[in-house]
Amino acid sequence: MKGIILAAGRGTRLYPMTRPVCKPLLPVYDKPLIYYPLSVLIQAGIREVLVIVPPGEEEVFAALLGDGSQLGMSIRYTVQPVARGIADALLIGGEFLAGDDVCLVLGDNIFWAADLDLTLRRAAERNSGGTVFGCRVDDPRPFGVVEFDQSGRAISIEEKPRHPKSNYIVPGLYFYTNEALEIAAGLAPSARGELEITDVNLEFLRRDSLRVIPLEENYVWLDAGNADSLLTAAQTIHALQHGGRYVGCIEECAYRQGWITEGELRALGEPMAMTAYGQYLLSI
Ligand code: G1P
Repeated sequence: MKGIILAAGRGTRLYPMTRPVCKPLLPVYDKPLIYYPLSVLIQAGIREVLVIVPPGEEEVFAALLGDGSQLGMSIRYTVQPVARGIADALLIGGEFLAGDDVCLVLGDNIFWAADLDLTLRRAAERNSGGTVFGCRVDDPRPFGVVEFDQSGRAISIEEKPRHPKSNYIVPGLYFYTNEALEIAAGLAPSARGELEITDVNLEFLRRDSLRVIPLEENYVWLDAGNADSLLTAAQTIHALQHGGRYVGCIEECAYRQGWITEGELRALGEPMAMTAYGQYLLSI
């Protein structure tokens, strides 16, 4: 399985902050936003990653994450020329995937739970159909909303419904077999002119091969689409880390996967030893 991070949103809802710097590079407390989805892929055991960025931004992303070799992985970059929707990432990544299964994660979604790595590994190991998640939120209207029947089976998913059928939304983390490419290729743009990831999920649902795993209350899911959610995300990460639970630390995740040695981890921490982040790396 390979990973794709869709980090191509211009982040217009964060203007003026995102005029010179695109959204996935903005800080969320002590690290750039993109560290969080990248740490999710690493915890899922995915070593080959394609980062889809806005036109002209490959160099600045590469300045941050390089070719991934410092983390024992491979990271490549490509652009999404036109904002055509999330499912477009599957088409852009087609050549990179070369027939492999895919985990697609949105560049502004943050996940945390004590047992997140286990949940991610299980989702990555299941090699049929699609696996997505369901998170309870107070206002599901801006998201993809999933409805369950009494036995807990997903029966419908609607993108940004006016009258949501539940409070469970599908966050931006999708595990698919390579079938997803053929599904994405057959999609027509929605009313907002995008290839909707919800339509990919609906097709897997129609084929009876979509699994929707509800995430319990102990799971933290945050998106950072506007100034308020960016601040909430930073405050949540601050609180977790001050309680001793580090979130989105890509170097630590790579070390725990056994992809880098203790010495390599130390070498990554040393140049940042003047920060709490660097000191944390050195303390592992
Ligand atoms: C997108 C998806 C939506 C999903 C959300 C998660 O929304 O379309 O289904 O619930 O990401 O962040 P958008 O970012 O397009 O508003």
